[in-house]
Amino acid sequence: MEIADFLAPRIHIVCGKGGVGKTTVSAALALVAARAGYKVCVAEIDHKGSLPRLFGASEPSYEPSELSPGVWALNVMPEDALAEYLEVQYHMKRVSKVLTSTHFTDYITTAAPGLKDILVLGKIWYLEQNRAPGGRRYDFDTIIVDAPAAGHMITFLAAPMGLADAVQVGPVKRQADWLIEMLTNPARSIAHLVTLPEEMPVAETLETSQKLDDELGVSQGVTFANGVYQDSLSDEHLALLTKPSSLQSCADSVGLRLDKEDFDALNGYASFLEARSAIQAKHLRVLAKSATRPIVRLPHLFGSGLTLPDIETLADEIEGKLQEL
Ligand SMILES: Nc1ncnc2c1ncn2[C@@H]1O[C@H](COP(=O)(O)OP(=O)(O)OP(=O)(O)O)[C@@H](O)[C@H]1O
Ligand SMILES: [Mg+2]
Repeated sequence: MEIADFLAPRIHIVCGKGGVGKTTVSAALALVAARAGYKVCVAEIDHKGSLPRLFGASEPSYEPSELSPGVWALNVMPEDALAEYLEVQYHMKRVSKVLTSTHFTDYITTAAPGLKDILVLGKIWYLEQNRAPGGRRYDFDTIIVDAPAAGHMITFLAAPMGLADAVQVGPVKRQADWLIEMLTNPARSIAHLVTLPEEMPVAETLETSQKLDDELGVSQGVTFANGVYQDSLSDEHLALLTKPSSLQSCADSVGLRLDKEDFDALNGYASFLEARSAIQAKHLRVLAKSATRPIVRLPHLFGSGLTLPDIETLADEIEGKLQEL
């Protein structure tokens, strides 16, 4: 598949269970798009700021800021989205400050469940429609949505449908319909699932994929199987780690002195990796058997916390694997 075909829909929704690598994959996809010459904006839907941190920036902001050439990001919080909505729709700039305090947003969104999600999706719609506050224009070619964790994701994407059912006429109904059209038009939006090769994430991914097809009608791109040990550590490497004689000669070749404790620790770690690899392979087979979309495997990258060069590596992987599809 050509990168341009993959990037044809402007909105890419990256979904998955908590902690499977949604933000990491969103960042890697952003690099893939930026390298292809697209101006890309990643919308993170929570206040963690994990994505800007990967690019060395600290504070997430509601208005997009450029993190690296061609890669922009923003953090969509419902309070800010409500303020923007009231300002755009009702010119309520001064009042909106009071109305959109976290307390008030909590109050009205408790009264109308799903409203928070609608407000957040509304901001994605503004991004897609190039409508920036103050009459300015956005000009993003690609919008990547780092979606909330899977459990909430279905309610998140289903919110406009709930609202369209509840409100039959008027501007709110019209706006809900615009969001439904945005999410269900394959030329505009596509969802990619992210999973780890583990039992629960795989089961949940298959379930989410089915729900996207059956209940939401949101089209799906690829499923990322993230953190695959086998792809970062070859059988050859593993065999090397488990054989004391090979380890010894490796250590000797770089002038490293290892004592028995070091050997035992390395050996134990190798056995752990070997066992994990075998378990992952089993879950990858389950995924491959039941998934209805192409699977893109991403390696587990060893180290203490991912940094930008790691995201570049994952972007290389994605580019290579997409070409093979
Ligand atoms: N391929 C990988 N190799 C090694 N570590 C990874 C990989 N992908 C993600 N991680 C690490 O796993 C952790 C979770 O990743 P990430 O924050 O991207 O997940 P998430 O799905 O966005 O989590 P959350 O649901 O909390 O937002 C992070 O510490 C990240 O650095
Ligand atoms: Mg995240």
